[in-house]
Amino acid sequence: MRTQVAIIGAGPAGLLLGQILHNAGIDNVILERQSAEYVLGRVRAGVIEEGAADILREAGVGARLDREGLVHDGFDIHAPHRDIHINLKRLSGRAVIIYGQTEATRDLMEARQASGRPTIYEAKDVALHDFDSDSPKVSYVKDGQKHEISCDYIAGCDGYHGISRASVPEASIKTYERVYPFAWFGLLADVPPVSPELIYVQNPEGFALCSMRSMTRSRYYVQCGLDETAEGMSDEAFWKILKSRLPAEAAETLVTGPSIEKLVAPLRSFVAEPMRFGRLFLAGDAAHIVPPTGAKGLNLAISDVHYLSQAIIEHVQEKTAAGIDAYSQKALARIWKAERFSAWMTQLLHRFPDTDSFAAPLQRAEVTYLADSEAAQTALAENYAGLPY
Ligand code: APR
Ligand code: PHB
Repeated sequence: MRTQVAIIGAGPAGLLLGQILHNAGIDNVILERQSAEYVLGRVRAGVIEEGAADILREAGVGARLDREGLVHDGFDIHAPHRDIHINLKRLSGRAVIIYGQTEATRDLMEARQASGRPTIYEAKDVALHDFDSDSPKVSYVKDGQKHEISCDYIAGCDGYHGISRASVPEASIKTYERVYPFAWFGLLADVPPVSPELIYVQNPEGFALCSMRSMTRSRYYVQCGLDETAEGMSDEAFWKILKSRLPAEAAETLVTGPSIEKLVAPLRSFVAEPMRFGRLFLAGDAAHIVPPTGAKGLNLAISDVHYLSQAIIEHVQEKTAAGIDAYSQKALARIWKAERFSAWMTQLLHRFPDTDSFAAPLQRAEVTYLADSEAAQTALAENYAGLPY
């Protein structure tokens, strides 16, 4: 088989890239290790920047987002000594949209199907070849049979555990990593959210977050130990911990109910540089991970794909390599700012075990400063709402 762009991974990054290229008339094939149901079964964050929403709309996959997404003009930060309302709209001029990543992925899968371009699910043993030449290839096994695709470009959109980044010789890639000494325990339930906007809670016992998927479905998280498991905590135990960390008013109005999904997510900051190796380009979680505190994961995948799709389209249609040459640098400039913001927000809101005596009062002062300074709130708002492309 031959195609112009072989895309590895059918997560949001791979699917969106496929869609934008399809819209530009560029042939592409997506190879995905799992089944479509498995991909949709993964539950992830759900805060979309306006800039990212514009890219989804432009790609033709924004209709349901605009119908069902909840526009949030701000959010709250609660700490024992201060309550801070971050008015995103007033401070940054922009709002965010609450829309589950699973829903965004479903919209992209439907658009993919309508495009008629091939997606090969349950493609095993995907391997990348000759991406340092002008004629790269990708091989895979489907139903026990080996296949090969010749292409002009390979897009590695296969997430943190994918094969694309791992295929690059070690000497050609540099990675930066921070692993946090705690995780998030998340619970999804069909109960109305405790508040119409998100609440990020800093508590001496640990972080908590009140989020939602709709006005009848809530998403809550509490900071937990790295040894916690999804099965290890009962719904009752979760609600009790959450309630104990919430501000009094929220704790009183909290509606609990049976979980429909539970997960434990470790927190990591990670960047791989560069993001281009000859004809191989990395995008999304394949190249970087942020801790979920700033809700940047999906938004970064979308901005990478925006830059990469424009670069490939330019190379194919105008025969100029300026875009693909600049891709890595351009994407990384935005990624590092989001890494900085996500690490900062994580530091601000979590309980860090085993820190020195200075850490807690510093964290308290950081909250006080944020509460008292409109300049500090503006900096937070412009990062949360999304930096320009
Ligand atoms: N071969 C083919 N597909 C693979 C391989 C492989 N060897 N390894 C991984 N994949 C697939 C995974 O099964 C997954 O469906 O690549 C896809 C990668 O999707 P994501 O992990 O969702 O990554 P991405 O599309 O970059 O989306 C980033 O996901 O984790 C969140 O916070 C993150 O919101 C962000 C988004
Ligand atoms: C979520 O709704 O899952 C969510 C929201 C905000 C975050 C992280 C996760 O910062």
